[in-house]
Amino acid sequence: MKIVIWPASAQQNSLNKQLANAMAQLLRAQGITDVHCLDFKAYSLPMYDGDLEQTQGVPETAKTLAALLAGADGVILCAPEYNGGISGSLKNALDWMSRLKPQPFSGKPYLLTGASPGVLGAVRGLWHTRVPFEAVGALVYPDMHGLGAAHTAFNADGGFADEKRAQQVAQLLEKFTAFTAKQTA
Ligand SMILES: Cc1cc2nc3c(=O)[nH]c(=O)nc-3n(C[C@H](O)[C@H](O)[C@H](O)COP(=O)(O)O)c2cc1C
Repeated sequence: MKIVIWPASAQQNSLNKQLANAMAQLLRAQGITDVHCLDFKAYSLPMYDGDLEQTQGVPETAKTLAALLAGADGVILCAPEYNGGISGSLKNALDWMSRLKPQPFSGKPYLLTGASPGVLGAVRGLWHTRVPFEAVGALVYPDMHGLGAAHTAFNADGGFADEKRAQQVAQLLEKFTAFTAKQTA
């Protein structure tokens, strides 16, 4: 099974990248070896503009990212919360990729997670993120995981510092990979 983890932050010391890496460790420990954490900074895109699309088409970076996502059996999104909702860069990437035919989201299992230094752990943003992903036909897994106080959540090896948290996330990942396996069977 191929799992792509998509930390939707370009920031170098991104908390969502750290969450992605901690989840990749847990997945590998569960025997899922084909795990790829993508680098969102490598796929920077102009703001969606219908004139740009008409004259130049969908940018190559959007096509490359779409191909990477389409090639996964399941995708785990680590989405920052901006002002209580989805970040502009994530929504913009989704908007561009939704213009492709076939678009890469249709029927694809997605798990929504997010990390934030705040106590609510990006959960408000995950509810907003769910809407456009469902609108483009992604199979968004019902459970989500918001990691609060994420700046204190990881140990020196990049794993979860709190054992209870590690177990919670590991259980969620097991459920999501079982769900993904059912879709691909
Ligand atoms: C424009 C902007 C809006 C933000 N809004 C929120 C918010 O609504 N809730 C929250 O918990 N954190 C908010 N934050 C803080 C982010 O959670 C924090 O910067 C986090 O580190 C972003 O994720 P990253 O480290 O993966 O880039 C905001 C940050 C920015 C730059």
